[in-house]
Amino acid sequence: MDTNKQQALLLKAMEAFNRRVCLISPEFKLLASTGVDRLLPDDCQMPHCYECIYGRNDVCENCPAEKVLANGRPAMREVISYSKHRSGTFCLYAYPVPSSGSIESIAILNFDFPALEGLEEELSRSNAFLHNLIQSACDGVIAADMNGKIIIFNDAAAQSTGYSVEEALATLNIRDFYEGDGAKEVMRRLRSEDYGGKGKLKKFRITALGKTGAKIPISLYAAIIYEGDKEIATIGFFHDLRETIHMQKKLEKTQMQLLQSEKMASLGKLAAGVAHQLNNPLGSIILYTKLILEEYELENDLRDDLQRILKDAQRCGTTVRELLAFARQNKQQIQPVNINQVIEQTLSLVVNQALFQNIAIRKHLEPFLPVIKADGQQLSHVCMNLFINAAQAIDGPGTIEITTSISATKDRIVIKVKDDGPGIPEDVLKHIFEPFFTTKEEGKGTGLGLSVVFNIIENHGGNICAKSRPGKGTTFIIELPIAYDKPKGDANATLG
Ligand SMILES: Nc1ncnc2c1ncn2[C@@H]1O[C@H](COP(=O)(O)OP(=O)(O)O)[C@@H](O)[C@H]1O
Ligand SMILES: [Mg+2]
Repeated sequence: MDTNKQQALLLKAMEAFNRRVCLISPEFKLLASTGVDRLLPDDCQMPHCYECIYGRNDVCENCPAEKVLANGRPAMREVISYSKHRSGTFCLYAYPVPSSGSIESIAILNFDFPALEGLEEELSRSNAFLHNLIQSACDGVIAADMNGKIIIFNDAAAQSTGYSVEEALATLNIRDFYEGDGAKEVMRRLRSEDYGGKGKLKKFRITALGKTGAKIPISLYAAIIYEGDKEIATIGFFHDLRETIHMQKKLEKTQMQLLQSEKMASLGKLAAGVAHQLNNPLGSIILYTKLILEEYELENDLRDDLQRILKDAQRCGTTVRELLAFARQNKQQIQPVNINQVIEQTLSLVVNQALFQNIAIRKHLEPFLPVIKADGQQLSHVCMNLFINAAQAIDGPGTIEITTSISATKDRIVIKVKDDGPGIPEDVLKHIFEPFFTTKEEGKGTGLGLSVVFNIIENHGGNICAKSRPGKGTTFIIELPIAYDKPKGDANATLG
């Protein structure tokens, strides 16, 4: 092909290439160009490239042509700026055009690819999307470089731990994120094959530390990020388990309570049967003993024996009465009840007893307590039991504090009976609501008081618990629903 034709074709190709290419002399004079012309005013008379293209009076800083002139090799320069005519980011490549051992001219190519700009935009868009994705994930996401510096920390991680995202990124080290040597253990497992494959860790239960030192149980999925074979970072996705654990505990407690009420129901049947059988003969024993004592002149020894029979029979009578109460013999009689009044009335029945002689009663009764629908008699029985238990526990001088209030949720009333007695050891505490459980000596306690209390409160749709630590007294807390209409089911159903 003839050279002229080739040259003409090459020039066309250059035009088609649509990139600025120019040829300058070692003195920076513009010798030839394609693409550049489009940028230049038609009347451009300025000979130097820096004048006509960049509008400068002198050679540009870091001019790649200058480097080519200095060492004879191609050079590149990234220009993050503008020309006289347009702005943008582009690369200038400069190549020496040699002629008989020296540099005759320098070819400069400008790669401000619009495609590249598009790619960058795309890249920053997808980066923003990924950032959004991580930030809005429901689980915590945390990544660290191999020095432990946190490089990703999302909103969920911030919420769980109490650190702000900025704070964690600036100050937190992954080693301080876990309790004790947790971070080491995570790395050991990540590097092992045994916990989900090398570089991976699945569903690891570990404790993280919140900003204030709070221990946060988490379930962690983690991975090492590699570049080739080199570990460059770690990333962890974790789920805060506190809510789940809380729910589990609540469920276990409910199950325990259910079990307790089932046990009570079947014991109730038995107790009711026995109590029924005993009630009449006991009545006769008491009646006839009293008659003999009243109507006959008896020797002292005989009288003492009969008194003993009467006392023991009366004790049996008390147990039978409690058994019957326990078996829910008494039908609920629902009527509007003012709990403060029930407390006052019950107190008036007990405070004059010898047991209460050295006991100070402190009342904090909410004056605006709503009237609730309940069986006043039964609730009085509940209060009586709690007061007597407290006084028996105090056993001497002490204080009983009685508080009524409305729950924070506004749908329950709360009764607290607190004493400064010896408290209840943990192994005893879990049994106190069980029927026939007592720590009192024979004749003093039947072990039925609190199980009756439990039953009554449960039948009113409420709940009761005891908080106590040995040496720190005991508090019984009762919650009763304000809107309670009728007993759940038939109160006598257990009697068959
Ligand atoms: N206020 C209290 N302080 C310490 N222990 C208590 C208190 N109330 C109950 N208890 C414990 O709970 C047990 C069960 O109480 P209860 O069911 O009323 O039966 P009882 O009073 O007949 O023993 C008691 O024996 C006692 O050990
Ligand atoms: Mg008791």
